[in-house]
Amino acid sequence: MRRVVTPPLKSQGIKTKLVPWIQALVPKVKGRWIEPFLGTGVVAFNAGFKQALLGDTNPHIIRFYQQIQQGAIHPSHVRAYLEKEGLHLRQAGRNGYDHFTYIRDRFNRDHDPLDFLFLSRAGFNGMMRFNKKGEWNIPFCKKPERFSRSYITKIVNQVRDAACLIQQGWTFETAPFEDVISQATGDDLIYCDPPYTGRYVDYYNGWTEADEARLYQLLSATPARFILSTWHHNDYRKNEMLERHWNRFNVVTRDHFYHSGGKIENRRSVVEALVFNFSAHIEQHNHGVIPKPEQLMLLEERAEYVAQQLGRGYE
Ligand SMILES: C[S@@+](CC[C@H](N)C(=O)[O-])C[C@H]1O[C@@H](n2cnc3c(N)ncnc32)[C@H](O)[C@@H]1O
Repeated sequence: MRRVVTPPLKSQGIKTKLVPWIQALVPKVKGRWIEPFLGTGVVAFNAGFKQALLGDTNPHIIRFYQQIQQGAIHPSHVRAYLEKEGLHLRQAGRNGYDHFTYIRDRFNRDHDPLDFLFLSRAGFNGMMRFNKKGEWNIPFCKKPERFSRSYITKIVNQVRDAACLIQQGWTFETAPFEDVISQATGDDLIYCDPPYTGRYVDYYNGWTEADEARLYQLLSATPARFILSTWHHNDYRKNEMLERHWNRFNVVTRDHFYHSGGKIENRRSVVEALVFNFSAHIEQHNHGVIPKPEQLMLLEERAEYVAQQLGRGYE
């Protein structure tokens, strides 16, 4: 199976590790890939669809990918920009901090997508968060040498991959999920990865039980097929939203381990869940992420399509 394509933007909720599992569940549909909570775009980029409707309330994400689609952001611009700003960062006072704050303030004023990319890659731990005024709110990673030659090449390649995979048939919208889901038809597949209640609250990520209830109503009524990512339980509690809403649909789960702070004793586990409204041959609790042969076939087809897009190169 080919590698998972990683996007140029980073965020704490990025689903890179879950992509093969999600993909194994995606049914064959005639219509579009609809993703109302796009985030970094990693799931859409690996989905292998020619037609897509992608939304997020965060206008910076949407503008960044729209500009790649329109060619206004080209891999060569990204390289020139990062080489210039990376050099300033290296030479700036207070171990680079002066230049980080310069770019942050410029982004908060002008909203330039390249400054957004800079902050996403020079911020602490690849996190994305905005304060109450909608301003960038993640501190500097404290690495003045952040934009080394190899790191710049890595980011430029990610922009090139995104440029190859984003099709002219993809529409990006800065919109609340309600507006995006209501456009779905019976031919489409909706993938939802909403913020989790009580986690990562920021300007673009407030999420309440009322939001979850509205999402449930919309997905219950949609003629499309849908897949929803959520969590099942962690070391301390279970996700009550499953019992309240989602257990009426099909649910599969998978263990996910992560480290909060490097040490082995800080290893935490969370059981991730996928909720869906169609029938599929997939293990109920998929520990090993080994899709059954039928899913493997589909995965291979999609992998081939994604590889083809990348292979076409970026003209
Ligand atoms: C958990 S993240 C999605 C992460 C994504 N799957 C990835 O792998 O990068 C949720 C996203 O939903 C967006 N969002 C939050 N509330 C929203 C709403 N009411 N309508 C649409 N998008 C929303 C946030 O800006 C954020 O980008």
